[in-house]
Amino acid sequence: MERGVFIVFEGGEGAGKSTQSGLLARWVSEQGRAVTRTREPGGTPAAEAIRDVLLDVSNTGLDDRAEALLFAAARGDHAMRVIRPALTRGDVVVCDRYLDSSVAYQGAGRDLGLEAVRDLSLWATRDLIPDLTIVLDIDPALGLARVERPDRLEAEPLPWHARVRQAFADLATREPHRYLVVDATADVDQIAARVIDRVRPLIGS
Ligand code: TYD
Repeated sequence: MERGVFIVFEGGEGAGKSTQSGLLARWVSEQGRAVTRTREPGGTPAAEAIRDVLLDVSNTGLDDRAEALLFAAARGDHAMRVIRPALTRGDVVVCDRYLDSSVAYQGAGRDLGLEAVRDLSLWATRDLIPDLTIVLDIDPALGLARVERPDRLEAEPLPWHARVRQAFADLATREPHRYLVVDATADVDQIAARVIDRVRPLIGS
């Protein structure tokens, strides 16, 4: 029995996910709820080690399926050892990136197929799905301009990032009750207020 609430921030590069997840986590804890704030890829020692491999620009030519498997492996460890226990305790989990990042980046960006990539992560996490996913939508040309030292994924060309953006938008359109899409170029406080409006009923505040 899980009593917590699982909230994920998704979006392209430079969309401001960490700023917004930080603001949301602070608001949730001000409401008197315990918060676990975490991120992917990462969140456990093994997943952080996998993250280093995945983002290292010197790993040129990493096979696309190997990449998808590594993201899923990191996610499985994180979901089973951090996210599920936190939800069981009743925490509100606020996570930067999760399963939809794999669907968008590996499924659409690497063209591995949306369903195959989604199924892989569902297998790894024993079907752990967020209660709400907030997509911070931004034109990749703008978002990438905010990135100082591109990692291995960020170094991909613009049309690649445009496919990723479209994939997030499509996922949100398919299941509107599980998603909130926000224009990431809006004012930081305005975005935070929209997010809180949507989260408030989920945490019973
Ligand atoms: P992240 O640390 O969130 O980068 P940023 O803060 O710059 O958005 O994520 C690292 C990169 O990994 C990012 O380019 C997105 C990519 N990624 C995937 O390709 N698949 C995944 O499943 C995840 C979680 C991230």
